[in-house]
Amino acid sequence: SDLATALPNVLVIWPNRPSQMAHLEATYKLHRLDLCSNPEEMIETIGDSITAVVTTGIKGLSSDLIKRLPNLKIVASSGVGYDSIDVALCSELGIRVTNTPDILTDDVADIAIALMLAQRRGIVLGDRWIREGCWAQQGPMPLTSSIRGKRLGVVGLGRIGKAIAARVEPMGVEIAYFGRRPQADTVYDFKPELIDLAHWADILVLACPGGEATHHLINAEVLAALGTNGTLINVARGSVVDQQALIDALTTNSIAGAGLDVFTTEPHDGQAFAGLENVVLYPHHSSGTIETRDAMAQLVVDNLEAHFAGRALLTAIN
Ligand code: DGY
Repeated sequence: SDLATALPNVLVIWPNRPSQMAHLEATYKLHRLDLCSNPEEMIETIGDSITAVVTTGIKGLSSDLIKRLPNLKIVASSGVGYDSIDVALCSELGIRVTNTPDILTDDVADIAIALMLAQRRGIVLGDRWIREGCWAQQGPMPLTSSIRGKRLGVVGLGRIGKAIAARVEPMGVEIAYFGRRPQADTVYDFKPELIDLAHWADILVLACPGGEATHHLINAEVLAALGTNGTLINVARGSVVDQQALIDALTTNSIAGAGLDVFTTEPHDGQAFAGLENVVLYPHHSSGTIETRDAMAQLVVDNLEAHFAGRALLTAIN
């Protein structure tokens, strides 16, 4: 219809919440790449008309596709991480990028704590112990390891890292951190060398951004430093960890265990850990609550609305 052609054309790489789709459908002419059987043809046909993209931090937006959308002005992504979007290229082309920080911080920090407790206290093992009849047949499950009195090393003391630290501090855990630079607004010890933090820590939790700068930060050497009593928790990005080195360390028990929300290649890589007992797995879902996903979807909508109304974007990256 005439009305439809007058509406801004928005390309949906990946939807967030149905509530968001309903709102977007009423306001824009949507092109659903996620539902399309021939994406090549679709981009060929409508690429020129697209001025906005809706995506998520997991799905991102490839540089190839950016170059095929010559009139693109805004990428509204849900999720705090944006390593899957070439923001430098977007800036160069005058394309704004937005994410959804802050509103997911508490949920993500909660899952970091849950993975830490699950791994150290054997929550998943205990669950299986009952289900598989071991309790009745063999008696108590094996002893586990206390949290109190341990040392937590935070890699990336940003919003999420700080929320994790705030949760473990009252549990009687000592905290230190590694990052690009010391933070002014914290009492925790800064370790300028990651390897020193890994030596010091019983539990190493990754809460840093993904991307080039942190690629394989956690390698065989760091895992060896973490040691046989050490636990690795990753709620950041799979790319931060050399996954084969981690699998080797878990297989040979050269670290005690891991709790992982993220993997190198999702979703398939999660299964690479399926045969290992000393790891607790979660399918990149730490912000996956109804409350937070609704808030993230709303923020995507609000950023698009601000853009098309010529107002300041709420959470711009560039
Ligand atoms: C995030 O918020 O970065 C999630 O990991 C995915 O977008």
